[in-house]
Amino acid sequence: MADVRWRPALSSDITVIVHWIETPKALERWAGPGLTWPTDGPTLWQEIAASDNASFSLVVNDTPIAFGQLVDKGERRAHLARIIVSPVHRRQGLGERLCRHLLAEARHRKADTVTLNVFVNNHAALDLYRRLGFVNHGVIDTRGIQPMQLRQFTQNVDNTDP
Ligand SMILES: CC(C)(COP(=O)(O)OP(=O)(O)OC[C@H]1O[C@@H](n2cnc3c(N)ncnc32)[C@H](O)[C@@H]1OP(=O)(O)O)[C@@H](O)C(=O)NCCC(=O)NCCS
Repeated sequence: MADVRWRPALSSDITVIVHWIETPKALERWAGPGLTWPTDGPTLWQEIAASDNASFSLVVNDTPIAFGQLVDKGERRAHLARIIVSPVHRRQGLGERLCRHLLAEARHRKADTVTLNVFVNNHAALDLYRRLGFVNHGVIDTRGIQPMQLRQFTQNVDNTDP
């Protein structure tokens, strides 16, 4: 896709992104349990701590088409979170592109371990993460959340072209 840019997320991005989420279940699958529903841009921005966590968007003409976060978990561990692609842009490689940018950012921040959490019934996300080299790491919890970790992080990121 032409003219896709990567930049830090703006609070105005979330007012677009909030319309990609149509149900409380979709909100939970994307962002985890415990968020307000119905929601709105400012509430969501605050609840996903978008100002505190490193938050990024892929944009076309400065309009977001994908969004994700890199949460610093300490001990050089970066955690990919809130990965989402606009519904009309899915299955065009943007989720993978977004994640590869986040992995490059994690390396830039000197992380040596990268983790994420995903609901086990989120097949699209699971396929994407496995394709990137993530493997199951720890047990599925009572809510159905699978922790994953990227194997051989440094080598994988060296091969990316974000
Ligand atoms: C998960 C998500 C980010 C994937 O984004 P995307 O831009 O469609 O993904 P890509 O086009 O980069 O797909 C890369 C690979 O992931 C897998 N994949 C993506 N969507 C898939 C689907 N619906 N079904 C099966 N596999 C899928 C495929 O292996 C795909 O490669 P392929 O198209 O060559 O077969 C997107 O579906 C989304 O935003 N979902 C809602 C939010 C969410 O659940 N986020 C994850 C939270 S953990």
